[in-house]
Amino acid sequence: MTQELPLPSDADPTDSADRAAIYRHLTRPGQVPVHMNIGARTVEIANTMPGRTVIPWGPAVTRPTPQVVAEVTELLRQRGLALGAVDEGGRQWIGFRPNPTHQALRAKVARTLRCAEYEVQLGCSDDGQHVVVTDHPPITGDTDRQRGVWLDLARRVIGHEGWTVVVDSGRGVIEMHAGERVELPTSMRVDPSKWLSHAGSQWSLPFGIDGRGRTVTWDLTRAPHALIAGLTGSGKTITLYAIATAALAKGFDLAICEVSKTGADFDELRPFVGDGLWGCDSKHAASTVIQHVYSLKDQRMTTLRQAGYKKLADLDRSQQEELGIRPMLLLIDEAAALLAAPPPLKGLPKDHPVAIANSQEQLDVALGGDAIRRISAELRAVGVHLLFATQTFEAALMAPAGGGVLRANLPFRVLMGRASTTQIGQALMRPQAAETAYVLAHGQAAADDDSAPDLYSQPSPGRGLVETDSSTAAFQGVYAPESSWIEALSQMGVPEPGGAAPTEETEGVDWDAA
Ligand SMILES: Nc1ncnc2c1ncn2[C@@H]1O[C@H](COP(=O)(O)OP(=O)(O)O)[C@@H](O)[C@H]1O
Ligand SMILES: [Mg+2]
Repeated sequence: MTQELPLPSDADPTDSADRAAIYRHLTRPGQVPVHMNIGARTVEIANTMPGRTVIPWGPAVTRPTPQVVAEVTELLRQRGLALGAVDEGGRQWIGFRPNPTHQALRAKVARTLRCAEYEVQLGCSDDGQHVVVTDHPPITGDTDRQRGVWLDLARRVIGHEGWTVVVDSGRGVIEMHAGERVELPTSMRVDPSKWLSHAGSQWSLPFGIDGRGRTVTWDLTRAPHALIAGLTGSGKTITLYAIATAALAKGFDLAICEVSKTGADFDELRPFVGDGLWGCDSKHAASTVIQHVYSLKDQRMTTLRQAGYKKLADLDRSQQEELGIRPMLLLIDEAAALLAAPPPLKGLPKDHPVAIANSQEQLDVALGGDAIRRISAELRAVGVHLLFATQTFEAALMAPAGGGVLRANLPFRVLMGRASTTQIGQALMRPQAAETAYVLAHGQAAADDDSAPDLYSQPSPGRGLVETDSSTAAFQGVYAPESSWIEALSQMGVPEPGGAAPTEETEGVDWDAA
């Protein structure tokens, strides 16, 4: 009863915008795509009303009373048809020829929603494992509650556990899938020296693979700053390594701030971090580095203007070297720890060492946070790019850096690993568009509960969602051990401004005597 159509060759079935386009292009009225087979690159299309037949109301009918509807239903049944819909405006009954799977599903949905069968329109795959409901009487409550109703229905009424439900208010449909899994690679191990030597614009930093097998990149010309959110173990640090090493390979300066583990995760990158750009030893150090980065603005602006340029992206690498301005990546990991101000102390004299340390820390948070906010708003033209990573993007925790406004200034957003619907809403601007991508990435809908156990197990680390201003898609992040990223950079001859190791010539020289 369903029809299998090939996907357009350039469409990415894990990308929300592409999916919407696929739906529009491949379906006609009354048809719904019930299942997208990502591996085979096909879509299964079902009719919501196969064998549609229109029967005008007789002159005696004034209203579709339950009694009339019952009579019509019986007449249709005798002809092997079911009542598909009642078109009051057009004064007509719509009959159709359902198959047994379709009929059984529709009856169950109608019974659960306590409505008449003709009020429910759906399409289903031949095996009944994929159901798309296109019309039903309204269900009260917000999207979360609606999803709950449908999930319950899928589980208890239609079948076994393992269903996923997507409420897509944009298309006005509810999709229910039995145990669908995305066919992104479960792991994307790369050889960093090959991966990093990929050509491509200086302004495009690669870090993953999407559902079309294409490289996923952060395009700095479209989105100057990025947010990476994800619970512990989801693959943030690995992703940060991929992005930071790509930036280094493309001639960027690198600044790193990570105070919760005093930079332990980034120790191996330290030689590549220049003077005054390593902000991991304390909050004070991080705040100082961030303020320093912001202070580069005026001088860079002046230099660019004097050379006749508006923005650094207009210069190629040799022109950048000539002017002595390289693009810069400011990487801030575990940002919530950095932005946590200590509560003010009461009852201590102002000059007590603890009171002094306390007010210094408050100052560091306030000044560092303010500089982050300014960098995100003002530094794109001079080629300073912020990569802001945090476990969750709770606006209250981000208040020193501008709260929710900061998120809007981070137009490239990555959400690693599993997340609750709340965490998705905090990290991404369009949580609704993310629903489908999330199901594709993780094989199930996001939990509504922030403490749901499956949030903290990461069955496929490195899996994530990427949101830009135009789309939301699932991806698998590339993986290589930290040390092999570093080896590749050294092989490529990337300079090590922070490399403290003395060179052979200077070793053993007696400076006093010289
Ligand atoms: N892209 C990936 N592919 C395979 N394994 C990964 C990937 N990203 C992370 N991992 C695994 O998950 C672990 C935790 O990742 P990490 O980046 O440290 O998470 P986070 O910084 O979010 O806590 C890593 O040590 C690694 O074993
Ligand atoms: Mg980490």
